[in-house]
Amino acid sequence: MTLLYALTWMPILLLNQPVGFAGETRSIAGNTLPAGRLGEVIKLGESIITETSQHPLSSRYVGNDLNCTSCHLNSGRHHHAGSFLKTATAYPAWSPREQRVITLEDRILNCFMRSQNGQRPPNGSEVSVAIAAYITWLSEGDSIKLNPLKPLGPNHTPAVNLEGMKANVQRGKTLYVDRCADCHGNNGLGDLSNPPVWGPNSYNDGAGLSRVPKLASWLKVAMPLDDEDLTVQEALDIAAYINSHPRPHFDLPAHLPSDERLGEYNGVRESSSHAKER
Ligand code: HEC
Ligand code: HEC
Repeated sequence: MTLLYALTWMPILLLNQPVGFAGETRSIAGNTLPAGRLGEVIKLGESIITETSQHPLSSRYVGNDLNCTSCHLNSGRHHHAGSFLKTATAYPAWSPREQRVITLEDRILNCFMRSQNGQRPPNGSEVSVAIAAYITWLSEGDSIKLNPLKPLGPNHTPAVNLEGMKANVQRGKTLYVDRCADCHGNNGLGDLSNPPVWGPNSYNDGAGLSRVPKLASWLKVAMPLDDEDLTVQEALDIAAYINSHPRPHFDLPAHLPSDERLGEYNGVRESSSHAKER
């Protein structure tokens, strides 16, 4: 990092201290940070997930205005909204999407390509290891229970039951204007303190939240921020309204690094230029 770059970035770092590691040196279970370099890397991982789009180690891998914690609330310490609590206990896990067993690191890197609309950081890179260290630390002391069905930990966002329900986009619009637009804007583009929910700087159409049932489930436990009281029908209508707007298109090869930096992807050495879209 050049000195000039470091200086430009410093005020952002200072301003963001309170939301950064939040002075927490204990995981939710009360575990203290391990001593030495490992503890520092765990702290770095938390800073990266809260400042993903600006952090000098991760910003180059991000293609939108979101941070991991835009969806994984409270640094992943939220019990339902994209929780990272006990997540590490479920990996390696079977992934039906990739048709592979994937590691926690692979799972993290997938969110870079889809939810962050960015480039897949190389496996073993500082960013990837620091985030994996932080998420694993949140599971310290919990028993391992590998997930043979899906790459999801035991506290993943609970899926709402949508049986017999139909989404109504028009009703979703009215609700959005009433309950969400104050923060995310009528145009959905957000502002400095609130992330965009559609448009070019939002998650792409390969992301989990681009699927209406997944977004409805997440909204049910996460939004409106600090006032999560939507009914399932309201969450469904708003989700359908949000996802009726344009967002970047996901095309797998465009999100993989160059062949020399790719390493292994899903267990095969796949050329980034020949990778099939999945
Ligand atoms: C636009 C929203 C969004 C953003 C931004 C995002 N994710 Fe995710 N992520 C999700 C959703 C949705 C899931 C599915 C998990 C669930 O339903 O609880 C998920 C799943 C995960 C999982 C697996 C959780 C589990 O229960 O096994 C990990 C790990 C993860 N994300 C890491 C990250 C990291 C690291 C970043 C930042 C580089 C990130 N995510 C950015 C939405 C997002
Ligand atoms: C008080 C302001 C506020 C209100 C009201 C609010 N949000 Fe949010 N929303 C946020 C913030 C801030 C985040 C990012 C979370 C963080 O950084 O802690 C967020 C994150 C999100 C995200 C995931 C990240 C992204 O931008 O894609 C979605 C989707 C979302 N909100 C939708 C909604 C919907 C739908 C409503 C109305 C039902 C709503 N929000 C109401 C402030 C708000």
